[in-house]
Amino acid sequence: MCGIIGYIGDKDINSVLMAGLWRLEYRGYDSSGVASISNGDLEIRKIKGRLMNLQEILSEKPLTGNLGIGHTRWATHGEPSEKNAHPQVDCKSSIAVVHNGIIENYYYLREELIKRRHFFNSNTDTEVIAHLIEENYEGNLKDSVLKTVSFLEGSYAIAVISVREPDKIVVYRSGAPMIVGLGKKENLVASDIPALLDHTRNIIVLEDGELAVVRKDEVDFYNKKGEKIVKEKRKIMWKAESLEKGEFPHYMLKEIHEQPDVIKRNIDCRIKGNNEICFGESFRFLPKDLVNLSNIIIQACGTSWHAGYVGKYLFEELARIRTEIDISSEFRYRNPIMDGEPLVIAISQSGETADTLAGLREAKAKFLRILSIVNVYGSTIARESDSTIYLNAGPEIGVASTKAYTAQLLQLYFLSLYLSKLKWTLTDSEIAKKLEEVKELPKKIRKILKNKDKIKEIAEKFRDARDFMFIGRGINYPSALEGALKLKEISYIHATGYPAGEMKHGPIALITEGSPVVAIAPKSSVYDKMLNNIEELRSRKARIIIIGTEGDKVIKDLGEEVVYIPPCEEGLSPILVAVPLQLFAYYIAVLNGRDVDRPRNLAKSVTVE
Ligand code: M6R
Repeated sequence: MCGIIGYIGDKDINSVLMAGLWRLEYRGYDSSGVASISNGDLEIRKIKGRLMNLQEILSEKPLTGNLGIGHTRWATHGEPSEKNAHPQVDCKSSIAVVHNGIIENYYYLREELIKRRHFFNSNTDTEVIAHLIEENYEGNLKDSVLKTVSFLEGSYAIAVISVREPDKIVVYRSGAPMIVGLGKKENLVASDIPALLDHTRNIIVLEDGELAVVRKDEVDFYNKKGEKIVKEKRKIMWKAESLEKGEFPHYMLKEIHEQPDVIKRNIDCRIKGNNEICFGESFRFLPKDLVNLSNIIIQACGTSWHAGYVGKYLFEELARIRTEIDISSEFRYRNPIMDGEPLVIAISQSGETADTLAGLREAKAKFLRILSIVNVYGSTIARESDSTIYLNAGPEIGVASTKAYTAQLLQLYFLSLYLSKLKWTLTDSEIAKKLEEVKELPKKIRKILKNKDKIKEIAEKFRDARDFMFIGRGINYPSALEGALKLKEISYIHATGYPAGEMKHGPIALITEGSPVVAIAPKSSVYDKMLNNIEELRSRKARIIIIGTEGDKVIKDLGEEVVYIPPCEEGLSPILVAVPLQLFAYYIAVLNGRDVDRPRNLAKSVTVE
């Protein structure tokens, strides 16, 4: 969850490290720090709190030198504080380490190191790495790092510098991402692509068990045994401009507004002449591999899990394929029955979520085929899957997932049509009709966005409410879960998503006069049922905000407020419904003075269990 940056070259080390950390701030933001080597000494600045604090101390007391590492932290071991911020150092302050992940056996290692008279300054698991490197050093930093990692258990990535070898940064990866950026007379390392894009689009992704020695003019790669290896360079298509907020006050709002373009981009690249659906070269399954598919298991976390839930409805309804959906942290530990050669689908914006990755590996160990639906190119989940469908959503920076969610829903819709064709559950003309509907989506989303002031007004009316219920049925039950998650994660207001038909089995007891409820009721196969559920809430004097279909006069009289989405086919309605839910959460959070892009306790990419 933490962010790592490292730089070696002629640019000002302070600006490069700080710019990289700003790009990585979404990975963690409770403390931060940087280190460089100058005139044979380590220089370190670190501080508790937001990155702005580090920026301030660096402007008063800048680092010198042409090599450095930086870190933005999401605390696991040890509370957020200056002493627990990274970099962590050895006894002599000659080695500095930044670390993302968890060292599971740190307690035992620490005890042993203390017995051997190492002196510890922090409560972090990271500090043991610095002391172990110190102890294992015999004149070669690379070798001492390799020896050290043989003692470490857990999932982590590290970047190390030492005053004894001031011309290099050594990085190692075991379970958490680490990327090398290749520049001209400069090289970088980072835990995520956005931190590199201001300098280069040429990258090399480290695999687990690989180490890189990064110098100004060259980078050498090694395996765990210390043998030199050759790695493939990739070019990233994302542009640095896509990382800017532009005219928007928050990344979240910008990303909500990007949705029509993201959907359009996917329409252009996925739908080919004659209504063929193409997932690009990363989709390596052939039709013959999927034609007999009778069983799908989807596993994902958070918003990606909600997208997967919609996928279940789509695969079952359109392609008639039995589909299970599971939260990855449950899936990985519940020893699921995986008979019938299911296709396992892992959905992840970042492609680095630890639980989703672990679920994928569980399934792989059982020799199952894995398809991932991922946004970040070359991410671990993508690389470890048999096939990948990319979201083409561009970098998503806001911690609350928005454009990646609707892009996930769209890929799932495309996939269900692709499978329907293979399995003859839909005719060519039915598929063609549905694809025509898909092509209308950008226009329809733009129309919803034009109405955002109305959603803002509703948010103003409900800004002080402290308990929301979101209800939906059928394919929009997951939309209710997603609406509730969006609201709680950025506004810190309690919200629960429920299948509307389940309310009377318990949750309706929570409803009293004035209880706010968001009811998702577009025209659909369960529309009449939703109306009944809304009536049940009205009788208990709930304050109801209805999301419904344009032209629906009935709901106008049922809700205190109504937000309309354009008419669309049921399978696509979660995409349109998502947009007002995102805007509603956004405005409530802003009106409550929340830091929308950096909600407390959260990080964009959850790379620890
Ligand atoms: O990168 P992933 O899609 O795997 O991330 C999964 C969740 O951590 C993520 O969706 C999280 O729930 C977001 N904060 C939701 O907005």
